[in-house]
Amino acid sequence: MSSVELLENYGERMSIERRSESLQGIRAQITYLVNMLNDILTIMQVQGNKLRFSPTPTDVAGFVEPIIKEFQASIGANHTLKLVSAPDVGTVLIDQRLLRYILFNLLSNAIKYSPQQTEITTTLERTEDLLRVRVIDRGIGIPQEDQKKLFEAFHRGRNVKSISGSGLGLKIVRDCADLHFGQVHIDSQENVGTRVTLTLPLHPPRDRIRTTTSEIQISELGL
Ligand SMILES: Nc1ncnc2c1ncn2[C@@H]1O[C@H](COP(=O)(O)OP(=O)(O)OP(=O)(O)O)[C@@H](O)[C@H]1O
Ligand SMILES: [Mg+2]
Repeated sequence: MSSVELLENYGERMSIERRSESLQGIRAQITYLVNMLNDILTIMQVQGNKLRFSPTPTDVAGFVEPIIKEFQASIGANHTLKLVSAPDVGTVLIDQRLLRYILFNLLSNAIKYSPQQTEITTTLERTEDLLRVRVIDRGIGIPQEDQKKLFEAFHRGRNVKSISGSGLGLKIVRDCADLHFGQVHIDSQENVGTRVTLTLPLHPPRDRIRTTTSEIQISELGL
């Protein structure tokens, strides 16, 4: 019986703890649905040419650090999120919205597919012409047979068991990296861990930069 039905039929007779458990279940399902709808909206925006590349000069470490702290605060002490930034990363022309989508999905995956009490490290490096961002975990890893198909919508690894997901996150990561003229590469070994490498050019083609963007997200629902 679903949490909603339990509350409807037995709510009055349930203990405070049991009721709060049911409410938490409902909240988790709503969050899952809202995230999935946001993912679908993002993919539709990309397909409809509505999500544009709109970079601004950005202190990359200063931009990434609060995102990681926010994630850490939302997951509590279950995992430890670390940021390791090379000293010369500095300011880079970045589309902050695209990089936020990418990091959100990579960090969510690293957390979701790693056992509790493991460390997830994000690294930032700069070469002569690239910004390199890596998210590294020591989680369940991805079976070799699934690795080629992960960027297709709805494809999930055969080892995910009951871990929930729709198979949309990495498609969004790839779409956002493409819009940023960048690339994504995954190195992973089952039961050892996963390292996702994003590379973005320091000098994206100037004629492809747009200044207007539109945003449709339903996170404003305040859930
Ligand atoms: N860090 C990781 N460790 C292990 N497996 C991963 C990792 N990242 C992605 N995967 C595998 O790749 C699949 C596709 O990832 P993707 O983010 O697209 O979808 P999802 O996490 O299943 O669902 P969603 O992101 O839509 O909630 C996952 O189902 C999982 O099998
Ligand atoms: Mg995901």
